[in-house]
Amino acid sequence: MTGRIRRGSLDVVLEPGETALEGLLRGGAEVPSSCRAGACQACMLRAVSGDPGSVAQQGLSPALREQGWFLPCMSRPTGELVIEEGPPPAIGAAIVDVAEIGRAIVRVRLEPDEELSYRPGQYVQLIQGEHVRAYSLASSPADGRTLELHVRVHSLGRMSRWLAAAAPGARVGLRGPAGSCFYTEGRADQPLLLVGTGAGLAPLRAIVRDARRRGHTGPIALVHGACDPTGFYLVDELKSMADETGNFRYVRCAMSGEPSDGVEIGDLTAVTLRLFPCLKGWRIFLCGSPDRVNALKKQCFLRGAGLKDISADAFLTARMPPPPLRRGPAPPGG
Ligand SMILES: Cc1cc2nc3c(=O)[nH]c(=O)nc-3n(C[C@H](O)[C@H](O)[C@H](O)COP(=O)(O)OP(=O)(O)OC[C@H]3O[C@@H](n4cnc5c(N)ncnc54)[C@H](O)[C@@H]3O)c2cc1C
Ligand code: FES
Repeated sequence: MTGRIRRGSLDVVLEPGETALEGLLRGGAEVPSSCRAGACQACMLRAVSGDPGSVAQQGLSPALREQGWFLPCMSRPTGELVIEEGPPPAIGAAIVDVAEIGRAIVRVRLEPDEELSYRPGQYVQLIQGEHVRAYSLASSPADGRTLELHVRVHSLGRMSRWLAAAAPGARVGLRGPAGSCFYTEGRADQPLLLVGTGAGLAPLRAIVRDARRRGHTGPIALVHGACDPTGFYLVDELKSMADETGNFRYVRCAMSGEPSDGVEIGDLTAVTLRLFPCLKGWRIFLCGSPDRVNALKKQCFLRGAGLKDISADAFLTARMPPPPLRRGPAPPGG
């Protein structure tokens, strides 16, 4: 049966293979989106009747699922779906400050209008104008109400460039928290391996601090990957954490450059597996570049980690627009 979407005065019959998001946009609706792969929750809408499909509700909390929220970028309804017009509820937040903490990485501190209940390592959606983007929390509620994000500033990035230039007091909307990348108590002696690239360090730093605060006794290893040694940040903080805590090991891994104390040179997956060849019984956290996260997830599983013990947040961004069509040679006489 053909899918059909109704939202206010909009009535769209989906084309074969089209997602609800694509249908809505084709029909002229304004729906924010970023990853279009179910990872960022930027596109979330609420169905008041009809079935968006279970895939379109994956990763949402039971409460959100129950209320009919779904991700239209993952929904291919086969019947009629009636969608509420308004966006999901959000709270306001003010930028406290923005500081450069690494090469093309800024730390953004935010003061939400209401206290946010979250687990260190989860992510939130920031809303600025028409843009909605996911950012992982580097902070912990134990630090107070202020939230900390680490944002990689991309030369074409609409939200990341706006955040990098934002003045204290600038306002954003905030939704969340979401995601299952956080420390869970119950097995204090379980070895933990955290691997991330670039700003993927944000949630990993939060998880390490949370595990230590909750008295984790098993080994904790954090491997941070970058293209070259200038890409690391928070080095002093993590080094002193490793010096202070016997069970915490901090490794930096660069694709190229000179090896030095605490810096391995090579492919992140290969280096991680060389240092940690057997991962049976380990709890794994992977964050950052989607290619790296997916490769590591597979290899950690092959090295013995149980799938239920692997939490991963791939930092999927909006897809690059297709390059302009190259013009062929002009036809003779044309
Ligand atoms: C669960 C989750 C958690 C995330 N957590 C973080 C986080 O903690 N820190 C963080 O910095 N980002 C994080 N991201 C990515 C973030 O949501 C944005 O996608 C990112 O900041 C780019 O947004 P933008 O508006 O600046 O770029 P856009 O305007 O969306 O993109 C503009 C163009 O630039 C390209 N582009 C943008 N960013 C990159 C990039 N990094 N590499 C290559 N091309 C790029 C896009 O493909 C696009 O063509 C996370 C994503 C997910 C799904
Ligand atoms: S989850 Fe739909 S755009 Fe990211």
